Amino acid sequence: MNENKRPDTMERITTKVLADAFIDEQVAKVRAQVGDKKVLLALSGGVDSSVVAALLIKAIGKQLVCVHVNHGLMRKGESEQVIEVFRNQLDANLIYVDATDRFLDLLKDVSEPEKKRKIIGGEFIKVFDEEASKLEGISFLAQGTIYPDILESDGVKAHHNVGGLPEDMQFELVEPIKLLYKDEVRVVGKALGLPSKMVDRQPFPGPGLGVRCLGAITRDRLNALREADAILREEFDICGLSKTVWQYFIAVPDMKSVGVRDDKRYEGWPAIIRAVNTTDAMSATIEEIPYDVLHKITNRITAEVEGINRVLLDLTPKPVGTIEWE
Ligand code: XMP
Repeated sequence: MNENKRPDTMERITTKVLADAFIDEQVAKVRAQVGDKKVLLALSGGVDSSVVAALLIKAIGKQLVCVHVNHGLMRKGESEQVIEVFRNQLDANLIYVDATDRFLDLLKDVSEPEKKRKIIGGEFIKVFDEEASKLEGISFLAQGTIYPDILESDGVKAHHNVGGLPEDMQFELVEPIKLLYKDEVRVVGKALGLPSKMVDRQPFPGPGLGVRCLGAITRDRLNALREADAILREEFDICGLSKTVWQYFIAVPDMKSVGVRDDKRYEGWPAIIRAVNTTDAMSATIEEIPYDVLHKITNRITAEVEGINRVLLDLTPKPVGTIEWE
């Protein structure tokens, strides 16, 4: 039997009962595979790695070592949420690495999008590798591979992603959710007790806010982007759009315009709102955000975020614009 092929008889996991049965089966399987050995997991805080972490904590507890690398390009509060959920609530063995300075120093003055992605991906592997080599007695590497990853690639989590791990790591793989589709991963995550904020998270590019802080990243513009993005998410939660819109975020370009604040000239960056709907991310349509919501978001961002003096709305579907700006 090809264990990377989903059996035709496998029922789609849509309910808590089915999820619980899947969890019991995987817990037994992981225990049989791992025995009393240790497993390493790169925990980004995204849906897939979070669900794998929760499943493995249930199966093998402290034999799982999670490493969360904060590359300084996370959305507001996301690294904090990883620590709160996994270290404080689930009592996981979690190593938290704040590598912000390393990443931002390397990215200084780099404006070309592909180069930025390469630096972020390469440095992520380096940091993870360094942490792994400090640990003793690790025999397994867990990965949040899901079924579309297997269908679309060779079974390893997408190579363009920051989550791609060193090819030469000599570990046996543990991939408990590799036959699941995304919607099933979310059902299983909920059954494992993960908060909805984590399980229903929007897709977030591996390079994070790095591809939304357009051009050469500076700390002040990155901070402005993070704060404006947090306001957008808060307001989408309040008006309910967060339940229906597929992906929404702010991008901040590397340009300033003239404005006025407190009766004085105030030069600042524009915050660009992007909110799209799609089923497969290959094409996307624009969500129509009510004007009162847009006005409220604009008022809040321009009043509360240092350095932003305008708010713009991106009305471009994909094609011709990609979802991300870089
Ligand atoms: P584009 O910009 O190509 O994005 O229309 C399509 C979807 O993919 C996400 N995206 C990424 N996801 N690593 C990821 O894991 C990446 O490097 C990456 N780049 C884009 C994007 O957010 C959108 O959902």
